Amino acid sequence: MRIGIIGAGNIGGNLTRRLTALGHDVAVANSRGPHTLRELAEETGATPVRAEEAARGAEVVVVAVPLKAVPDLPPGLFDEAAEGVAVIDTGNYYPRQRDGRIAGIEDENLTESRWTERRIGHAVIKAFNGTYAQDILDRHRPAGAPGRMALPVAGDDEAAKRKTRSLIDELGFDTVDAGGIDDSWRQQPGTPVYGMRGDSEAVTRALADASPARTPDFRG
Ligand SMILES: NC(=O)c1ccc[n+]([C@@H]2O[C@H](COP(=O)([O-])OP(=O)(O)OC[C@H]3O[C@@H](n4cnc5c(N)ncnc54)[C@H](OP(=O)(O)O)[C@@H]3O)[C@@H](O)[C@H]2O)c1
Repeated sequence: MRIGIIGAGNIGGNLTRRLTALGHDVAVANSRGPHTLRELAEETGATPVRAEEAARGAEVVVVAVPLKAVPDLPPGLFDEAAEGVAVIDTGNYYPRQRDGRIAGIEDENLTESRWTERRIGHAVIKAFNGTYAQDILDRHRPAGAPGRMALPVAGDDEAAKRKTRSLIDELGFDTVDAGGIDDSWRQQPGTPVYGMRGDSEAVTRALADASPARTPDFRG
């Protein structure tokens, strides 16, 4: 499958590694340009591209940039993507350490992914946001393996959610349907499921135990 990855850091880099290893045709972009991605390209066989080109022909696009960089992404990013493209948002809001205060999220009480959708002009599927980047390399297991880790997946586009869940299964993890984007506060930073390494049952319980109030650490 043709997959575009925007952001080649911890999470985008490791998704590039695993998705190429599975045989997918991956185009990867960062902010500094393709010439800075030569090493990753040599290591993985992914094609380094400019962010503008990453979604071209892609059935899945992963947005893995810091939240504060989302408004800098080029306009019309998904214009040449494949029909029905699933756009996966890995983002988290870290107002204190990284992103600064984002008024849309705090004052309008939007979920982080709803805010991102409005900036990029496309529906997203929220996935991988609470998964340690290293776990993508180290903790994948075949389907049915005991203790296989599960990831929560939220989104309003059911077809895109199905496609995302099937790709995550291929990557070696179970998934739990975490509802729509308005429900995705249940998997944001500070919630019980965030950073959790549990199976489907544990993830389902953690999602149910979440509180909608943003914890002080994650308020700007
Ligand atoms: N680290 C984790 O374990 C982890 C796990 C789950 C989710 N997340 C979330 O995923 C997001 C990315 O985290 P990360 O740790 O992977 O970040 P990171 O290591 O800092 O990497 C960020 C990447 O985004 C690129 N980027 C920044 N601005 C861009 C722009 N305008 N256009 C294109 N690319 C741009 C950077 O490119 P340059 O280097 O060229 O600037 C870099 O490749 C964050 O919201 C984070 O909270 C992280």
